[in-house]
Amino acid sequence: MPKREQAQRTREHVGEPGSAGRALDLSALIAEAGGRPRTATAFVETTLRAAILTGRLPGGTPLRQEDLAAAFGVSRMPVREALRQLEAQALIDFVPHKGAVVTDISASGAADIYAIRLALEPAVLERSIPHLTEADFARAADLIAEMDSEPDPARMGDLNRRFHMTLYGAAGRPKLIALTETHLTAFDRYLRFQLAAKGRSHLSQDDHRDMLDAARQGDTEGAIRTLRRHIDTAASNIAAFFAEKG
Ligand code: NI
Repeated sequence: MPKREQAQRTREHVGEPGSAGRALDLSALIAEAGGRPRTATAFVETTLRAAILTGRLPGGTPLRQEDLAAAFGVSRMPVREALRQLEAQALIDFVPHKGAVVTDISASGAADIYAIRLALEPAVLERSIPHLTEADFARAADLIAEMDSEPDPARMGDLNRRFHMTLYGAAGRPKLIALTETHLTAFDRYLRFQLAAKGRSHLSQDDHRDMLDAARQGDTEGAIRTLRRHIDTAASNIAAFFAEKG
């Protein structure tokens, strides 16, 4: 570990005593961040992001804007902007009356969502495929192309959800469709978290293409098989992610 700590020694504990009984100490994290990137926002965002993804800032940790501004030696505006970017990556939540809090995500929470997805999505896809139109297929193909060129993990999760919902949308069971979308949205947080940590290779675009092709050909069984594999792959990716994270 390079000895940058000295330069940062002036900044010590952040967070008021009594805030959940512990002070938030960012000085070591800031020292390890190794020099300031181009902008104050990027400095705050990259440092916090690394700390969250490595578990140094565990789920549930409150992140007060005043504390962060003081710790990083920047004004409130870049802190706010950095927090917004972290929220888009599903790394933090804005909780009413509490402010920004590190997102609590867990292996068991992820497994739960995958089990629900596996129960709902094949059923809704099966009902939807016979009623999908050329316009639906075209929209789904556009969304795949958009995902291919989208650099922003936050947008990618959104596109992924819209792609899936396009294929499910003709199921003719509004409550089933709404329930499916709710759980895809819950999954989105994990997907974004994982994309932020691992990059875009984890999106399984081949599955998306295979699913669309099968649906287009009216091959309901083939599409369902691919969807199951798609969800299983996502589930094992996230399990591996948590195992690695230790
Ligand atoms: Ni997908």
